[in-house]
Amino acid sequence: MKIRCPRCGTENVVDQKAAAYYYNHRIHSYFNDLSGTILDLGCGGGFLSRYLMDNKRIKVIYGLDQDEACNDQLTDMTVLSKFQFLHSDIAQLSKVFAEQTLDFLVSRDVFMFIEDTDRYFDDVTNLVTSGIRQMGWFISQNERMKNQLTPEQIVEEYRKRGWNVYLEPLEWYKSGYFIRADRQ
Ligand SMILES: C[S@@+](CC[C@H](N)C(=O)[O-])C[C@H]1O[C@@H](n2cnc3c(N)ncnc32)[C@H](O)[C@@H]1O
Repeated sequence: MKIRCPRCGTENVVDQKAAAYYYNHRIHSYFNDLSGTILDLGCGGGFLSRYLMDNKRIKVIYGLDQDEACNDQLTDMTVLSKFQFLHSDIAQLSKVFAEQTLDFLVSRDVFMFIEDTDRYFDDVTNLVTSGIRQMGWFISQNERMKNQLTPEQIVEEYRKRGWNVYLEPLEWYKSGYFIRADRQ
């Protein structure tokens, strides 16, 4: 497999393990400026949460997912008081958390599965006090997607609700984007 250096443009041949390490490291680098209480929305097997566990400024991580089987993949973390798995649907967010009780929300490859996006934007605006870090992909008319909001439309929805938003297209992440939303 070949990976192009983003700084000098040189193409380097790397094995699969090295490529995965490079790729994961690059994803994780977008989730460094966090602290306090975190919600990992649609946590899955804990790809983001597992990385965040080492961040000393983070006190608690809630991993929320509709798939109860995630619990089995997260047992190494649920034994630690810093991480808690919540079996719930994103549509129930406002019932699971009280208003303004989360410092940051993180998600990767989850937004496209949200059906009621208006409810999502309203809920996270009520629950999250500092910032949102959202990575995902958008492929128009992809049959797996439960909504068709483009990254630009997602940004607009956050802005309408008073968030200060930055959007970065990710050319190295298939049809990918990263959104950072902070309080004004
Ligand atoms: C592609 S996986 C990403 C998992 C993880 N964020 C990661 O980076 O590896 C999407 C996850 O979102 C969860 N999910 C999708 N729709 C959901 C919903 N409505 N409520 C809660 N979780 C949901 C799925 O169960 C799945 O674990």
